Amino acid sequence: MEAVETSSNAIAEQERAGAETKICKVKFLRSNSEPVTVEYEPGVTPYHEHGKEGSLLDIALNFGVNLEHSCGGNCACTTCHVIVKQGEENLTEMDEDEEDRLYMADGLTLHSRLGCQCVVTGDITVEIPDVLDFIRHGSGS
Ligand code: FES
Repeated sequence: MEAVETSSNAIAEQERAGAETKICKVKFLRSNSEPVTVEYEPGVTPYHEHGKEGSLLDIALNFGVNLEHSCGGNCACTTCHVIVKQGEENLTEMDEDEEDRLYMADGLTLHSRLGCQCVVTGDITVEIPDVLDFIRHGSGS
């Protein structure tokens, strides 16, 4: 009986793994360069040590996309600020720490997030704001 249960558990696990396999597509926009789109299978590439596992920062750095991260992804600065253009529903909900820190970001919008704190769950397009633009023109303009 036990062998049958183990076998059926293994089959169920394989089916579950097959059903869960998906590819996420993340598009990074930047005002002064071409957009960069990366595609990956969540959990397969060795993402780590860049904010929350699977966060926008984590993905960006694993694919060589430059996203500033002065505090190392610890929700203690705002240099990883991004503005979500599409697919906002494909990010984990903002927690209190992110919300508190985000208020300090230059150029804050209703669609702003901290790249190190929001984990990607599906396709998404984000803009990496030009920090120098905020310095030149002031925040909120
Ligand atoms: S890297 Fe500092 S808050 Fe995200």
